[in-house]
Amino acid sequence: MANSIERFSTSERVLHWVVTASFFTLLLSGLGLYSRLFTGYFNLFGGGGNASLVHKVAGVIFFFSSLAMFLLHLRDVASFDRDDREWFAKGGGYLSRGENHFNIGKYNPGQKLFALFVGIATLVLGITGIFIWSPLSFSRWVVQLSLLLHGTMFVGAVMFVVVHVYLATIGNPGTIGAMLYGFVGRRWAKVHHPKWYREVTDDNP
Ligand code: HEM
Repeated sequence: MANSIERFSTSERVLHWVVTASFFTLLLSGLGLYSRLFTGYFNLFGGGGNASLVHKVAGVIFFFSSLAMFLLHLRDVASFDRDDREWFAKGGGYLSRGENHFNIGKYNPGQKLFALFVGIATLVLGITGIFIWSPLSFSRWVVQLSLLLHGTMFVGAVMFVVVHVYLATIGNPGTIGAMLYGFVGRRWAKVHHPKWYREVTDDNP
């Protein structure tokens, strides 16, 4: 495919969709556990007991797959260079009407922050989840603090994921192909990630 560039390998994409499937399973099975307002969602799983069981199984899958995805991305998302700082200074171009051309690598700084947040949220949700799983085995304050952190991280994660899904689909046409088929168009790469484009091709104008 002369006009396409590989962005994600098959294993990277499978990992991303395992994280996504377990994330949405956790969301649906966890809503009723989070608040009485949402206990209607238990019906999707045939009752509260089943929803709780599904939540625990999906939690283990999410924890390990998301942690693996985070560690695989870590080298690409953990550092911010001068070009990234310029992106921050100009609000990623989202705050102005004119065209902005940022010299962005594989991920833009917004994507880096999202990936770092997901990594931290995974650890917090997983560790607090252990205390909530077996509440009688730990002191009361540990379980209560865990419930507070688990709920707060859950709300934060949902908000970030809503923005992520929008930007990866309708917000930036051409992006979803990267996660579905592994490839993006050359034009997309030049426009959104020019530094990465130059790194992975011999196109060095
Ligand atoms: C229907 C839901 C989702 C869609 C359509 C989607 C789509 C995508 C796409 C297209 C990319 C590649 C972006 C690029 O090449 O620049 C991506 C990357 C990524 N996704 Fe998702 N995603 C979804 C759900 C999730 C969830 C639930 C998580 C984690 C909780 C997640 C975490 C990530 C991370 C960490 C990256 C790499 C950094 C980034 O591009 O922001 N995704 N996703």
